[in-house]
Amino acid sequence: MCSGSFAKCLGITLIPLAILSVLCNILLLFPGGKPAKNNEDITDEAWYFGGILGSGVLMIFPALVFLGMKTNDCCGCCGNESCGRRCAMLFSVMFAGVGLIGAGYSFIVSAVAINHGPKCLINGTFTYPFSDGNYLSNQTMWEVCEAPEGIVSWHLGLFSTLLIMGLLQVVLCGFQVINGLIGTIFGDCCCGGSGK
Ligand SMILES: *[C@@H]1O[C@H](CO)[C@@H](O)[C@H](O)[C@H]1NC(C)=O
Repeated sequence: MCSGSFAKCLGITLIPLAILSVLCNILLLFPGGKPAKNNEDITDEAWYFGGILGSGVLMIFPALVFLGMKTNDCCGCCGNESCGRRCAMLFSVMFAGVGLIGAGYSFIVSAVAINHGPKCLINGTFTYPFSDGNYLSNQTMWEVCEAPEGIVSWHLGLFSTLLIMGLLQVVLCGFQVINGLIGTIFGDCCCGGSGK
């Protein structure tokens, strides 16, 4: 098995997930799809930037490292062929760890946001009308929000997408941690096209 090309596939997969996460996070700064009036109406968890920083920026580094692994046959590290293979795999484990932390952060923020519920207008003030996810099973409760229009489904849809993206990234980076550790220990990656 060539763990280097597995990493490359992983890099290609992580990029669309990261872009989608960044987009979801940006959309959360526009409650109900409209420009925020004076930031009062934006849910706190959107400012934690789970999608932009965690699943987005922190994912760029592992994705680029993984993408580069096939082209340099995993031997690009240290400029030293004899240590190169294992060294490059160890390098990928470190970056997969960074990705794991970023995606885990986005996942946790999204789970907290879903549980907390959206911020919305009730009797002229922006508050959090829900708690402990009680609104999830009772759509009648959603009517308590006067504005922004459709905020509950907006909040739920975007944070659920972020939750799923974060989970996928956690799984993928977790795979690469294991894959890279195996590659580091057994040195099983394609070096110099020998396929060993
Ligand atoms: C749903 O919420 C509404 C409004 O708070 C409440 O009147 C109703 O009893 C709830 N329904 C259920 C099934 O809990």
